[in-house]
Amino acid sequence: MKNPHSLIRPLVHNLRAYVPGEQPKIKGLIKLNTNENPYPPSPRVLRAVRAATDGRLRLYPNPTAERLREKLARLHRCRPENIIVGNGCDELLALAVRAFAEPKQNEAGSRKQDSCSTVQYFHPSYSLYPVLADIHGAAKNAVPLQPDFSLPGALELRRGKVWDFHAALTLLTTPNAPSGRGYSAKDLDALCRTQHGVVVLDETYVDFAEENALTLALKYPHVLVARTFSKAYSLCFQRVGYCVGHPELIGALQKIRDSYNVNGLGQIAAEATLDDQPYYRANFRKIVAAREDLSRELTKLGFRVLPSQTNFILAKPPRFPAKEWLQKLRQHKILVRWFDDPSVRDYLRISIGTPSDMAALVKAARGIMPR
Ligand SMILES: Cc1ncc(COP(=O)(O)O)c(C=O)c1O
Repeated sequence: MKNPHSLIRPLVHNLRAYVPGEQPKIKGLIKLNTNENPYPPSPRVLRAVRAATDGRLRLYPNPTAERLREKLARLHRCRPENIIVGNGCDELLALAVRAFAEPKQNEAGSRKQDSCSTVQYFHPSYSLYPVLADIHGAAKNAVPLQPDFSLPGALELRRGKVWDFHAALTLLTTPNAPSGRGYSAKDLDALCRTQHGVVVLDETYVDFAEENALTLALKYPHVLVARTFSKAYSLCFQRVGYCVGHPELIGALQKIRDSYNVNGLGQIAAEATLDDQPYYRANFRKIVAAREDLSRELTKLGFRVLPSQTNFILAKPPRFPAKEWLQKLRQHKILVRWFDDPSVRDYLRISIGTPSDMAALVKAARGIMPR
């Protein structure tokens, strides 16, 4: 009998899988750990999904999400060839790693070869990036952000000598997660201009920010902007994301994806979402207002709250270590996120919920603090 263990590639054996935020089944829990939107999809979206839930489920969906790509192209003033739709933004990030970075050679290669297989990203940012590089067998180059989570300028990157201006792929979360820090289109433009490989601007949280950098994907042939319907558009469950960029790069991603990568109900839900923008814009305003209120309230209680341009905040709690706060809040049926990483170990990441979720959080925090 074969030992099944011996059938698995060593690379897979050695992988540390991505750990998603917990999806607990506990009743009455206030869930502020995965940056989901506290508001439901618009009634028009729910109606469209219900209306499509019939005998059509036996058919394959449109393989290229054609109608959705056409609508997105109109929204972003580009052509459908500039757009690929994916099974969430996560799929598109994985495709980018596979399309643009070479797996590492076994023997030490030249500097040029190293860059060909390098997936580069700032640290801290989305913790999936290193996992995707590892799955593909690519090299990783994690470069620290500034202590306040701002982007290092080109001069600092050159001086630091760790940044690879020739990296095959650079993944940049903007606004940043987990800090919530926003970046200006001007700074992102400057960074893209100095880069020789592909740059993916991961704009997962951009609808809550002051600026976006979508024009860079249409200005530069090596820049892609990745977006998702998950967060701002309340559609995590349906898994729909998309990338905008030069038709050549988009075509490369199209070539290597699964034939029917976006499920039919997801396509219908995303199309209906684009038809009801005012509903979502009102939600963005509510979430941003709740974010600012929560930041003020927690600051009054002694938290150090970092400025955020996302639907979450990163906050350093007073009195106890952040990990202890995580447990204490859980005892109050409030779930937030804590990352065991030196760059953010002292902080809690708190997703913005409804005003009543936020009031419950502040009340619990008051209860936790010794008088
Ligand atoms: C920075 C960032 N990029 C991408 C994603 C994934 O989004 P999606 O749900 O579209 O796969 C997330 C999800 O948390 C994220 O935080």
